[in-house]
Amino acid sequence: MADTDVKAAVAEGGEAAPEAADEVPKKAVDPDFEPEIIVFACHYCAYAAADLAGSMRLQYPSNIRMIKLPCTGKLEVIHLLRAIEAGADGVYAAGCMEGECHYLKGNLWARKRVDHVKDLLGELGLEPERVEMYNMSSAMGAKFAEVATEFTERIKQLGPSPVKPEGVSPHAAAREALGGVAMPDEAQPAAAATVQEGNAE
Ligand code: FES
Repeated sequence: MADTDVKAAVAEGGEAAPEAADEVPKKAVDPDFEPEIIVFACHYCAYAAADLAGSMRLQYPSNIRMIKLPCTGKLEVIHLLRAIEAGADGVYAAGCMEGECHYLKGNLWARKRVDHVKDLLGELGLEPERVEMYNMSSAMGAKFAEVATEFTERIKQLGPSPVKPEGVSPHAAAREALGGVAMPDEAQPAAAATVQEGNAE
């Protein structure tokens, strides 16, 4: 996807992002707005934490749609942008705690890519707060629910993304962009894996 695609969509129907990129603007919240949020979740931690949250019967918003990854190090800038371009109101990556990535630095590279996408969104006139990176362990079911709840509330405050192409599913588009990297819900992570700088393979 070219940056210009997002820019054009913003120009058609969007609002300018706030001057201060790190401040969530206060807007009147539409009570009927149910954001569509894409979560790129590491199989080892956040995805397992979601299972735990379910087992603990913790409540969290149904607005999030998860895509399971073998490691957030597999998440590239283009995948995050594709979800936004396809109309996601918010996107976040959830990886292992720093120092605990099974591929050593995958979660650190994911954070760098998320930060880069934040910068790009700001340049394009979209709120950088629509993208975020979180870290958690598989034992943090409560944190998973808390993050999902807080991020959903953040996006409700921001309002709908101005990028809303007709008939496009952000979840399906992001999965397609990931190709074989995205894991089916039932699948196990790849048995063999190595880490290269900037990517987990
Ligand atoms: Fe979980 Fe890398 S972020 S294995």
